[in-house]
Order: sequence, then structure tokens, then C-alpha cells
Amino acid sequence: MRVLRTVAALRKELAPARRRGLRVALVPTMGALHDGHLSLISQAREDCDVVVVSLFVNPAQFNERSDLERYPRDESRDRELAAASGADVLFAPSAEEVYPAGFATSVDVLGVSERLEGESRGAEHFRGVATIVAKLLGMALPDVAYFGQKDAQQVVVIRRLVADLNLPVAIEALPTVREPDGLAMSSRNALLSEVERERARSLSAALEAATRLAAAGERSADALLASGREVLEGAGVELDYLALVDPDTLEPVELLERPALLAVAARVGQVRLIDNAILAPAVSQTSKGKAIQTCSA
Ligand code: PAJ
Repeated sequence: MRVLRTVAALRKELAPARRRGLRVALVPTMGALHDGHLSLISQAREDCDVVVVSLFVNPAQFNERSDLERYPRDESRDRELAAASGADVLFAPSAEEVYPAGFATSVDVLGVSERLEGESRGAEHFRGVATIVAKLLGMALPDVAYFGQKDAQQVVVIRRLVADLNLPVAIEALPTVREPDGLAMSSRNALLSEVERERARSLSAALEAATRLAAAGERSADALLASGREVLEGAGVELDYLALVDPDTLEPVELLERPALLAVAARVGQVRLIDNAILAPAVSQTSKGKAIQTCSA
């Protein structure tokens, strides 16, 4: 695996592959790699001929200075993990390479950026994400870019960005990788104390409670959200939001009539965590009957 620091070096490295018509994958990351990131790299390795992993802790998307300063960094460990998962190139540019003097452009994805995380963290967060992702796509010119469903809203924002700017790249979103007790893997989990780690489990537990209730036939968003909130309230975490929304528009949903995104954000001590699940309405006896009728008709 080659470690490259400049856009020019990346372009030079990828030019022969592109001339030969090989399929190039990009996996954008901010490092502190865990099995969630590695699942994206492994899938990219399976699907494509050349796998580029980018590692850049993007200051523009951090709305809190302390969060940026605390963000875990260990490039030599990341290098080993990325190589072992099949990366061909680790692209780890400096902040000056990404944002040289005179840099003046930013990308705003309106609407879907303004809900959930956008409401909590402000417009800068997704402006920072959309701008860096647009830049990374321009730098690596991949055929496919891989993202995690763990950051469900980020995927929605990036799909919108790619569609609106006619960028010639396929976006793949892969399932959330979890710890054995359900906690979604996150680079920020490393910052949790033992007690906080225990409390953090309540995010996925809340999603599970609502999922169980939906499977039992409950369709009211209020009831589903109340079941999740109850788990979180007992757990000693500071709830930021728990919301049931349309998975494409992120507009609130009142009745679960088709699959909806249940998204949660909470602060556990100093650490802000997010998680989500897709809730699907239970198939009722009557609609089951209808489905059978339709099939046999
Ligand atoms: P980062 O948080 O490092 O995540 C990199 C990619 O890994 C994202 O697509 C994220 O959704 C995915 N990921 C994180 N945890 C995961 C998990 N438990 N299971 C599956 N995938 C997971 O997201 C970012 O960086 C940045 O915003 C970035 C897109 C790199 C732009 O700076």
C-alpha cells in the first residue's frame, strides 16, 4: 500500500489504472479506523480494481473546537489496518494541501442538511462534509465511493450532492457495524470512560425497543418514539434528538406506513454519539391476505 500526501501524487498514481479502464474505489475516512471503516474497505476491495482510502480529519466539519482537538489520531495504526483490509493507496493530505491559501468555495446542500444533525450542529457541519466529499471525489475521480449507513443523514446529503452536481460516481452505503452489545462502532467510542461506555449502550437499546414495538404492529410515531425515549431517559445520557423521519427527505413521519428512519443523537459525558435504524411496519394479517391474493391473481 502506498501512502500519498498530495493531489498531484494521487492523480499520477491513479492515471495508469484509469487509462486501462480499471474500476477505482474511494473510501473517505477521518482515521482512527475500526471495523466499521474496514467493512467499507473490504467491500471496495471485493468490488473494484484499485482501492483508495482517504484519511483526513476535516476541520471544516467540526462545529466544536474541543471535538476536533480530542478526535483520536493514530496514522501508523490506520496505515496497517487499511493495508490489511486491502487498500492500495492511503491518501493522507495535510490541511494546507486540502485548503491552500485563497481557498474560497463551499458546497451547501439545502433541505436535507438542515434537519436532525444540521439542526443540532448548525449548517457548518454538513457544509464541511459536502465540501470535503466534493473535493475528495474531484481529487480521486473514483467510479464508486463507499459510505456507512451509521451516518444515515450524511449518505442522504452526499447522494443529493452527487445528483445535483452530476458527479459521475456511484454511492454505496453499507450497514452499520456494531459491538457485540449493539453499540455502533465509532471513532469517538475510544473517548468514553467505562461508565460512559455502559451508558452509551442505551442508544442502540432505544432503537431496538422501538424496532420491537414496530414489529409487534405499532405504527404511531409518538408511541414508537416514547418507547425509545423511555430507554434513554433511564440511562443517564443527555438526549439531543430521537426522531422518526422519511429516509429520503428526512421529513418527520407520524404514522409508520412504509420503512422510516429512526435516528438518535445523545451526549454521553463529553462525547456526542449518533445511531439509527430503519423501522418497517409490521405486515398485518389483513395485508398479508391481500399480498397472497395479489400474488395468486
Ligand atoms: P468517519 O467518521 O471516519 O467515517 C468514515 C466512513 O465510515 C463514513 O462513511 C461512516 O459512515 C463510516 N462508518 C463509521 N462508523 C461506521 C460503522 N459503525 N459501521 C459502518 N460504517 C461506519 O464520516 C466521516 O468520517 C466524514 O464525515 C467523511 C465522510 C470522511 C468526510 O470528512
